[in-house]
Amino acid sequence: MTNASLNQKLLLFIISVINNKMIKNTYTDEDVFVLPRTPLNLTDMLNKVSYGECVDMMKKISSNSIDMVCTDPPYFLDGLGDDWNKESLDKKGSSDVVGNLPKGMKFDRNQSKKFNEFYSKVSSEVYRILKPGGAFISFSSPRLYHSMAMAIEDAGFEIRDMLGWIYTQSQVKAFSQDHIIEKDKRLNAEQKKLLKETCNNWKTPQLKPAIEPMCLAVKPIEGRYIDNFQKYGTGLMNTSEETKTGGGFFPSNIITTDKVEESMDRVFLVSKPNKTEKGDYNTHLSVKPVSLISHLVKLFTKEDAIVLDPFMGSGTTAVACVQSKRRYIGFDINKEYIKITERRIKESAS
Ligand SMILES: C[S@@+](CC[C@H](N)C(=O)[O-])C[C@H]1O[C@@H](n2cnc3c(N)ncnc32)[C@H](O)[C@@H]1O
Repeated sequence: MTNASLNQKLLLFIISVINNKMIKNTYTDEDVFVLPRTPLNLTDMLNKVSYGECVDMMKKISSNSIDMVCTDPPYFLDGLGDDWNKESLDKKGSSDVVGNLPKGMKFDRNQSKKFNEFYSKVSSEVYRILKPGGAFISFSSPRLYHSMAMAIEDAGFEIRDMLGWIYTQSQVKAFSQDHIIEKDKRLNAEQKKLLKETCNNWKTPQLKPAIEPMCLAVKPIEGRYIDNFQKYGTGLMNTSEETKTGGGFFPSNIITTDKVEESMDRVFLVSKPNKTEKGDYNTHLSVKPVSLISHLVKLFTKEDAIVLDPFMGSGTTAVACVQSKRRYIGFDINKEYIKITERRIKESAS
């Protein structure tokens, strides 16, 4: 063997020893019930929202290192794709499918396919970086829930439940046919009047939105639940006082942050959102209540755990983590939203 190849072998051996020391995949008895250590490459992302495309950013995170992923991705409805931003939505103006449909209401079969393709890439990375037993909770619109759930399952997750956030404050989106009839040049005034009377009270098939579904998926556990929990601190659900709802009830798969009716509130209500929590400077279109995200985070993680939100938006997950003593990592492709997040975190801490 030449001197050069001997040196090369020696170098490779030293690198493999260093790597083995840095990346710890198993834990000794001392580590049991102590939170696993933070992988080295997470430290500069911890408790921050970094600017970047989330699939690329997740590639920087080592496998099996995140306790939970909780996120509210772009919905892939009209204009709400992965280039999601208020300005481009406002510029888009009217829909070219049916009259002037409100934003997000254009029906297009491709939305489901595109969302599935996009979410398959997201879910594969989420699967890799989550610890075994780690929960992946992802919001979606009721219309495209199925394509999101399929992408998550195809990435290797076990789908455990569909959770529903129910609310009473929302706008009716169904619309009448009067303006279409009015514009129809083939009809005379009498015919228009007759057709409007016939269609009176008949609207496009859209019920008033009152539920936002979330997919609850879990990365398969290693061994028994208790083995997985001891090794990774994940895989079991927290049913202590802090996750009880309304009148001290076991947490259910329906969650509300509005007061609805006494018997419903006893079972489904997590604490109400504070009116100022969003911040009057917050221009984001889809801000979730902090109490809702805190409830989810407490259900599936211990204190100090690392929660990732790849689509951080205006920072609700970050604020929920700070308030519930969890650590967070966030990404967003919009710098304006990152600034809003930073301000919300500062204000929620003071
Ligand atoms: C529905 S919003 C999240 C709102 C958030 N839950 C809140 O309460 O403020 C989705 C966010 O994902 C961001 N986004 C869209 N595509 C992205 C991508 N590929 N990578 C990272 N962020 C992305 C958008 O800029 C938007 O802020």
